Amino acid sequence: MTFPTHRPRRLRRNEAIRSLVRETRPSTSGLVYPMFVCPGRGVRAEVSSMPGIAQQSVDKLLEEAREAAELGIPAVILFGLPEHKDEKGTEAYIASGVVQRAIEGIRTARPELLVITDVCLCEYTSHGHCGVIEGKQVANDPTLELLAEMALSHARAGAHIVAPSDMMDGRVAAIRKRLDANGFADTAIMSYAAKYCSGFYGPFREAAQSAPQFGDRASYQMDPANAREALKEVARDLEEGADIIMVKPALPYLDIVYRVREAFDVPVAAYNVSGEYAMVKSAAQNGWIDEKRVVLEILTSIQRAGASIVLTYHAKDLARWLKAC
Ligand code: PBG
Repeated sequence: MTFPTHRPRRLRRNEAIRSLVRETRPSTSGLVYPMFVCPGRGVRAEVSSMPGIAQQSVDKLLEEAREAAELGIPAVILFGLPEHKDEKGTEAYIASGVVQRAIEGIRTARPELLVITDVCLCEYTSHGHCGVIEGKQVANDPTLELLAEMALSHARAGAHIVAPSDMMDGRVAAIRKRLDANGFADTAIMSYAAKYCSGFYGPFREAAQSAPQFGDRASYQMDPANAREALKEVARDLEEGADIIMVKPALPYLDIVYRVREAFDVPVAAYNVSGEYAMVKSAAQNGWIDEKRVVLEILTSIQRAGASIVLTYHAKDLARWLKAC
């Protein structure tokens, strides 16, 4: 029997009823705030294509990390801009690197804040690729050694979770092995398992100065047309020892988030990336959309698709809005 016995509008009559039957309850508890750390002191340089987001020296970054913690955001993810770039991305894995110093600073200033680090060479290499170059190719196996070294240096500095985003084959196993061999069995791995070769990373490449100097990332990042392949990538990363798996970008790939959530019983993260952020910000600045409403809808939709962890540049605004709800 349907209408008039059934009237779905009964459960939409007022906000109290709607709230009672709400299936997805957006929350601050799964938010991760991405931050960019650069050399120097007292530096805060706004990224023009990402209003509100800046490259910051460690001292400034600590101020903002404190603010994020006070807003109830449980975690940050750090990206580094080195002093000098070279062929092998040396500054990615030295103990005095910007990210390593930022990790130590946050661990001291805000012990309750979870520190996640991005493990990838592209911000540190002169050619801007995520691995070492042999001939004109990004060489997989020689890169694994450097990624493992980078993850270990982050763990030594105090990172709780390392997050490889390079998309080399076998990196999770290489990192797990290196961490375990050095007494970091408790450092978790969040792998960017289904990371697509996406145009939505444009603003990030300005923020992290990591645009490839030749070619693109299509030989290692996934083809946007492939969904079944994402399940294979996720399965391999889990076999290799990933604790949390990520889908990236988020909005154009909510079907992937959903499929991964259905197929695997592990925590699923989604990265609401720089281009997604820039689109919302620019439309909001023009008065074309209601920013708060749209951003809350975006968070809800990512959680509804199945991600319990959401990396987003909107994290601080979301935390403020959710507090006021
Ligand atoms: C590094 C990395 C990228 C992002 C996160 N880690 C850029 C890329 O793969 O080119 C993108 C994040 C964003 O766009 O917000 N490999």
